[in-house]
Order: sequence, then C-alpha cells, then structure tokens
Amino acid sequence: MGLRIYQTKDYQAMSRKAANIISAQVILKPECVLGLATGSTPVGAYQQLVDWYQKGDLDFSGVTTVNLDEYKGLDGKNSQSYRYFMNYNLFDHVNVDKSRTFVPNGLEEDGEKECARYDQVVAATGGVDLQLLGLGRNGHIGFNEPCDEFKKGTHLVALSQNTIDANSRFFDSIDEVPKFAYTMGIRTIMQARKILMVVSGEDKAEAVRKSFFGPCTPEVPASILQMHPDVILVADEAALSQI
Ligand code: GLP
Repeated sequence: MGLRIYQTKDYQAMSRKAANIISAQVILKPECVLGLATGSTPVGAYQQLVDWYQKGDLDFSGVTTVNLDEYKGLDGKNSQSYRYFMNYNLFDHVNVDKSRTFVPNGLEEDGEKECARYDQVVAATGGVDLQLLGLGRNGHIGFNEPCDEFKKGTHLVALSQNTIDANSRFFDSIDEVPKFAYTMGIRTIMQARKILMVVSGEDKAEAVRKSFFGPCTPEVPASILQMHPDVILVADEAALSQI
C-alpha cells in the first residue's frame, strides 16, 4: 500500500509537518484543489499556514477548497458550523477567493438535493489534489461513521453516539449537538490524488492501529485508506503508541 508515516514528537511538530506538506502542494500547483477537514486536530496546521502566509511565503489566490462535511441544521454564521470554523481558522486570514471555498450547505433541508449538488460541486473542481483528514475515535473520516457498507457519494448521516459525545465538548450542552450531518462519501475521499491524515493523542491510538494495520472494513471507515495509492499519515508518538 502507498502509506508513508511520519512520527512526530508532539502535536506542534505534527502540525508543522502537515502544514509543510500542504504548502508544498500549493507552491507546486498554485491552482490546486485542497480537500479540507475540521475538528481540533488540523487547527495547528491551519495556524501554521496562516503564519507562513502572513510572512509572505504562501499565496492562496489560485486555490480552490472543498470541505468534507457540515452539520445539518446549522447556518454558516453559527459558531459551531464547519463553515464558520473554516472562515475562523483559515479563510479569513489568507488570500483565498471565498467564492471558491466549498462546504456542504447545512441549511438545505432536502438531503437528496444537497448531496447531489455537493457531488457536482466537487466534480466541477476537477478533483481534489490533496485531501486533509482527521480521524474519529471510532475510525470515522469526515462523518463516514462505522457502518455495514462504504457509502460512496455525499450522503446524510445520523451521527453515532460516540461522535455526538466526542463533539459535545464544543457545545454548551449535549442536546445542542446536531444529530445529522452531510458528508463526502468514501468514493469522493478515495478519488483524491493524495491524502494527508493528521492524528494526535493516545485516545486515537487504537483507531490508528485498526485503520492502518487491521482488516479493511466499513466498521472502521478509515481502513479503506489501505487501498489508496498515496497516503501520508502524520501522527505524534502518542497516536502511534499501539503500533
Ligand atoms: C469530527 C469531524 C471529523 C474529524 C473528527 C475528529 O467528527 N467530522 O472530520 O476528523 O471529528 O475530530 P478531532 O480532530 O477534534 O478529534
């Protein structure tokens, strides 16, 4: 399999390494398509990119971005939405053209309509050059939850209790955590030319082991990455402690 693993000492080094790989993509192909992810893990990499941009070392003016997922029911202005997260952590601080930053529309009630629209949005970009991924504690990627089949295209998911509990730390109470989300599917993720996964912390160690060294099964959605020809895993020592 086309897996390369970079072990870093800690979260900060992981973030710097990931930002290096993303920068290289932007420098080598200024009109690239970046697949982006939310969650707490990529925040440090985004901060590093903003820092390099502010020093004049990076130019995002030709870049298009597509995000993996969005909570259903949340407006982009809601501070818990993934659109807000992306603006706050990256887009507001670099010279990306915001009209070429795409996130599923959480306010679209009609699931089928939104999923079809978002698949078209991604296809119209010409395909993702580099897809950044975090890893859920249960092995989820985007919001592709453990399941009995790999879902291919963008779809509406009922979030698992494990994910709702994990994400409740960002909300005032667990009742406010949305129960549904739109997410890119496994096919879309697998079609990215290169995949960069960032993982930090001991609570992800089991998910890392199962994803990359266990059987390929939709019960561990990230295990599909074993079939991808070009995956870079950047993880700290704690996240790699079960390998
Ligand atoms: C959320 C996101 C995922 C992310 C995961 C892990 O559920 N939809 O894309 O990878 O959480 O998040 P964290 O990095 O905060 O552990």
